[in-house]
Amino acid sequence: MEPSFSLKTLLTISLFLFFITPQSSLALKLPFHPQDLLPLLPRQVSWPILNRLNGAVDLLPTFVGAASASNDTGDWKGACFYENRAWMEFHNKTGSEFGGGTLHLKVSEAHSWTCMDIYVFATPYHVTWDYYLLSREHTLEFKEWESKAEYEYVKNRGVSIFLMHAGMLGTLQALWDRPQPWATNISVDDIHSGDFLVLSKIRGRWGGFETLEKWVSGAYAGHSAVCLRDSEGKLWVGESGNENEQGEDVIAVLPWDEWWEYELNKDNSNPHIALLPLHPDVRAKFNETAAWEYALSMNGRPYGYHNLIFSWIDTLDGNYPPPLDAHVVASFMTVWNHIQPEYAANMWNEALNKRLGTQVSL
Ligand SMILES: *[C@@H]1O[C@H](CO)[C@@H](O)[C@H](O)[C@H]1NC(C)=O
Ligand SMILES: *[C@@H]1O[C@H](CO)[C@@H](O)[C@H](O)[C@H]1NC(C)=O
Ligand SMILES: *[C@@H]1O[C@H](CO)[C@@H](O)[C@H](O)[C@H]1NC(C)=O
Ligand SMILES: *[C@@H]1O[C@H](CO)[C@@H](O)[C@H](O)[C@H]1NC(C)=O
Repeated sequence: MEPSFSLKTLLTISLFLFFITPQSSLALKLPFHPQDLLPLLPRQVSWPILNRLNGAVDLLPTFVGAASASNDTGDWKGACFYENRAWMEFHNKTGSEFGGGTLHLKVSEAHSWTCMDIYVFATPYHVTWDYYLLSREHTLEFKEWESKAEYEYVKNRGVSIFLMHAGMLGTLQALWDRPQPWATNISVDDIHSGDFLVLSKIRGRWGGFETLEKWVSGAYAGHSAVCLRDSEGKLWVGESGNENEQGEDVIAVLPWDEWWEYELNKDNSNPHIALLPLHPDVRAKFNETAAWEYALSMNGRPYGYHNLIFSWIDTLDGNYPPPLDAHVVASFMTVWNHIQPEYAANMWNEALNKRLGTQVSL
């Protein structure tokens, strides 16, 4: 997984080459193409250049195949390496119930000595990425499958491989280079109505989804909830995406103890939880009665997947905060459509169709 060169070194070299070389002679005199270096440049620099070089469609990740144990992917052509092949080898190095696997990826026939290919590897439970600069066989370790479901999924359908296009590296990097969390001791008595809980789920089905979601939105959290105290002073948590007895994700208002017990001991997505208390001035304005009325009116209702991504998208390209842009959102949809088509239908196909007027039924 470790890149062979230091990214910083390459960045320095590429910036240097970019700015000392007259643009017109770049393609003629140097043994590489400007596009080869784009992934290494800061986004502010690379996006404007990239947008001139490519149509938007070229930026979408390309599904190149799924590597399973019974079948390799067959050859595909990358942006940099023209011959690529991948296969999966199951193992049980950790002696866990379902074992793990090694993805082998053989890349060769680079079209220049400086180019690289960036890939995203995904199952519904894991999303990871890597980039390759050298012609040889690379491996990617999945130490342990999360669950029987992931094991079965990979055995039958394989690990999905997406070729990313230049410019994505910065986005992916931003997702992995995170500030360290800090910890403090708080007591439940210090939590008030209106205080906000932010969750980041790391593992399992929600872990995979949230990783994509965070990648798209540039956020560190993928889920949130709000605290409410009732007239007796008892603490409750209002949250979306709580599974009911029928296995549907609904909006729920739960007693704090029940919610906390679940997050602490039963939530297999290994959530990281941050408490963001309201500023005292804002807390003074918080209307608890109105908040309760609203929370109870929503209790038990289906969670709004249909609208989930439309909190990010409401113009074609005018309102994305950096680093989010239309290409990244489209990338997210492309990846997720392949991994969990059932959820994709829920999440955007229906909503997009409605907006485009291409399908009436909902
Ligand atoms: C393996 O690939 C062959 C041909 O591409 C296909 O017919 C077969 O269904 C695949 N098997 C599995 C288990 O995916
Ligand atoms: C892996 O090894 C452990 C311990 O020997 C065993 O219990 C488990 O069934 C194995 N898992 C697989 C998928 O072979
Ligand atoms: C929180 O409190 C426990 C018990 O009093 C203590 O051991 C721990 O170091 C405290 N943690 C922080 C981050 O203050
Ligand atoms: C708080 O909300 C309730 C219910 O919506 C409303 O009747 C009341 O006037 C609000 N209080 C303030 C101070 O705005």
